[in-house]
Amino acid sequence: MEAYIVFNNQSAAPEFVSGWGLSVFFRSKRLLFDTGSETNALLHNFSLFNITPSEIHSIFLSHFHWDHAGGLLGLLPHLSSPKIFLHRGFSSGFIAEIRRLGGEVVLFNEPSKIGPGVYTTGPLESSSPEAALIFDIQGKLALFTGCAHPGILNLVHKTKELWGKVPLLVGGGFHLLQMSRKKIFFIAQELHRLGVRLVAPSHCTGQKALEVFADIFRNGFVAMGAGKILFLEKLMRKF
Ligand SMILES: [Fe+2]
Ligand SMILES: [Fe+2]
Repeated sequence: MEAYIVFNNQSAAPEFVSGWGLSVFFRSKRLLFDTGSETNALLHNFSLFNITPSEIHSIFLSHFHWDHAGGLLGLLPHLSSPKIFLHRGFSSGFIAEIRRLGGEVVLFNEPSKIGPGVYTTGPLESSSPEAALIFDIQGKLALFTGCAHPGILNLVHKTKELWGKVPLLVGGGFHLLQMSRKKIFFIAQELHRLGVRLVAPSHCTGQKALEVFADIFRNGFVAMGAGKILFLEKLMRKF
């Protein structure tokens, strides 16, 4: 199973357009996780991956912030009746517009199954309610977060509570930009102590936190960036 990093704050290759936000395409699941901040950049990067928008059958939005939901409305006319997974944190106007543009809205407010081997924690409370995605990859879990506003540790604890296991891999935005190095160090160590072995932090994680995570997780640290493809089975097989 491959995760294509379609949009991110940084590019892993110069021809990919970067910008503030996050979007990841899980190609074998035909599932797009978040849509970045801007549709044209998204379409440009899809074409560089040789991905046609019609490959997208469903879209999951983590939370209602422009850098995660901003690319959606412009993308919808390129898709044919996609399922859009949303929770209570989105405005009724946004939902109505998705429907008008042909999206089939699937609302979830609890931990749910999204598709074969794909689950969500459901929305957790924070400044903006946010849900994360969980993949069951041959019995091992991978957790993907948008911004992790509810806290990256809380999302990992929630995963353990719901699925009985700590995710082996945690990727996405960890929202540690404003945090002190000491606190970041504690969080990174705690994730490792709990059993997380692979981290792919990006977006709102912040440079300081990337350094701390790289130091603690060593060869379990996965660099992100638009244009990068994560081969999840291969990564997880090592641990
Ligand atoms: Fe964000
Ligand atoms: Fe956010």
